[in-house]
Amino acid sequence: MSRCRPATPADAVAIAAIYNEGIEDRIATFETRHRSTHDILSWFGGHHPIVVVEDGGQVVAFAAATTYRTRECYAGIAEFSIYVARTHRSRGYGRAAMKGLCDAAERAGFWKLVSRVFPENAASRELLKALGFREVGVYRRHGKVDGAWRDAVIVEKLLGEAAK
Ligand SMILES: CC(C)(COP(=O)(O)OP(=O)(O)OC[C@H]1O[C@@H](n2cnc3c(N)ncnc32)[C@H](O)[C@@H]1OP(=O)(O)O)[C@@H](O)C(=O)NCCC(=O)NCCS
Repeated sequence: MSRCRPATPADAVAIAAIYNEGIEDRIATFETRHRSTHDILSWFGGHHPIVVVEDGGQVVAFAAATTYRTRECYAGIAEFSIYVARTHRSRGYGRAAMKGLCDAAERAGFWKLVSRVFPENAASRELLKALGFREVGVYRRHGKVDGAWRDAVIVEKLLGEAAK
């Protein structure tokens, strides 16, 4: 049985492993450097929510909000990441994690979640659309992965009062 819950520093090892699979797959992020547990621990301690989904006591997915911009006027906007362990994809865990993060971000007073998705990442685009994210447009040649230019689809979802 699966459940979504707030992440704690004790989840950092599992989060790093799942994130590093996503980095290796080259489908999800411009990042190519593996993250250590120490890197993940630095995500904790602020007011941005991080959630994990457990199945049978094992962490199989996480979703994390991070700072969008440091300017005060953007304090209610957060970036997000969503990653499911390779062996557990397309089984509902991504939806559970992302729904959990949206709810947690809304409760924490954020008014918008934003991110960027590679155009060919059908699973992510479909998941986000299903959860009410809007595709705002496409950044062309937003960065390079392994020397090749990649575009990025901008996504956003309004939360709380902003969504009314
Ligand atoms: C993208 C990702 C987070 C989706 O999570 P998931 O657990 O695999 O997806 P879910 O099983 O929760 O499916 C939710 C919806 O996503 C869509 N979806 C899932 N897998 C899909 C696939 N392989 N192809 C197309 N759509 C897919 C479907 O619309 C699905 O809804 P449905 O079950 O009602 O049909 C996950 O596959 C993943 O971690 N991928 C690698 C990392 C990544 O790309 N992260 C996102 C960076 S922007």
